[in-house]
Amino acid sequence: MPQDAWRIDNTPRAGSSEVLCDVEALNIDSASFRQLCESNGYDAVRIGERVLEIVGQRGKQHNPVTGSGGMFVGHVAEIGKELQGSNGLAVGDRIASLVSLTLTPLQIDEVLSVEIATGRIRVRGKAILFQSGLWARIPHDLDEGVALAVLDVAGAPAQVRRLCLPGATIAVVGADGKSGLLSCAAAKVRVGPEGRVIGIVPDDSSPGAQLLRQERLVDALVVADARNALEASARVAALAPDLCDVVVNCVNVAGTELASILCAREGGVVYFFSMCTSFTAAALGAEGAGRDVTMIIGNGYTKGHADIALQTLRENPALFAYFNETYATRKTA
Ligand SMILES: NC(=O)c1ccc[n+]([C@@H]2O[C@H](COP(=O)([O-])OP(=O)(O)OC[C@H]3O[C@@H](n4cnc5c(N)ncnc54)[C@H](OP(=O)(O)O)[C@@H]3O)[C@@H](O)[C@H]2O)c1
Repeated sequence: MPQDAWRIDNTPRAGSSEVLCDVEALNIDSASFRQLCESNGYDAVRIGERVLEIVGQRGKQHNPVTGSGGMFVGHVAEIGKELQGSNGLAVGDRIASLVSLTLTPLQIDEVLSVEIATGRIRVRGKAILFQSGLWARIPHDLDEGVALAVLDVAGAPAQVRRLCLPGATIAVVGADGKSGLLSCAAAKVRVGPEGRVIGIVPDDSSPGAQLLRQERLVDALVVADARNALEASARVAALAPDLCDVVVNCVNVAGTELASILCAREGGVVYFFSMCTSFTAAALGAEGAGRDVTMIIGNGYTKGHADIALQTLRENPALFAYFNETYATRKTA
């Protein structure tokens, strides 16, 4: 299977049940992009070269360190015979892939630019979508960069909507990033006036943290480094002595599993959306702390996730404005 294969065939030709796309941009997932930045001194040229190297070696953008990928945006170039007229796509359609780049055959001819602030890489290349590969049309009312930023993390707010019940107490770790902000917004609506949303951020002066406060997307903001499990969980416990029904982990650094587990009440749920999550650290950490919690792997796909994430954005004008300010293509190109 392509996800766990080290290398896949990236010949840019659509098989009978495949779609070939001209790729314009890659949206590298945050855990992978942070790793690429740190190991290449935040140098855009070196990062671009490393991405070319990875794709050259593996036939896909599958970061060998983080194991994660991202998504692409581009135009449909060719539709395999079996899919013509049946998959809702036409040649020329502008789409974003909703399946990971870790399983998407990709060939890059040229890296045009690397945007350090957003993790977006403009390229000239080709990619293959399999029959099972999810995709979304780029909405006409949204800037492409904004759409990409939202669709990349669409699984988070959709899963939050499913997990949170009215009246519940929710903590979002890494609340001021893309998935964190959307998760807080989705949680706030779901838990209602009786519930509580607590955001955990490393620094409350970030624009995202300020937005959370100003727009009351959280009821409380905890400033803590989530890699310090005892400190972060003690601060949450000071606000919610019964701890949280649901904890959503949206960070892009390793080592935050235990903080998330310790913030959850006995019988609570921890949803690990972060790609930095270690199964062993989570499983053994919960065991060691004697916490009977249900831990959910952040499946990037939840039914209707793209629509739910876009709806979450559209329902919050201030969040919409923030995403435009931060991720719009015209700002960062
Ligand atoms: N499950 C999936 O299918 C899927 C799909 C896409 C992405 N992801 C993963 O989901 C995670 C979040 O993605 P994103 O795009 O939302 O990332 P993002 O926008 O970069 O946000 C990450 C957030 O984590 C915060 N953070 C970093 N270190 C922290 C610490 N020590 N304590 C508390 N918070 C900390 C960051 O704060 P600062 O900015 O202040 O550092 C930032 O707000 C990443 O790991 C990404 O790879 C998963």
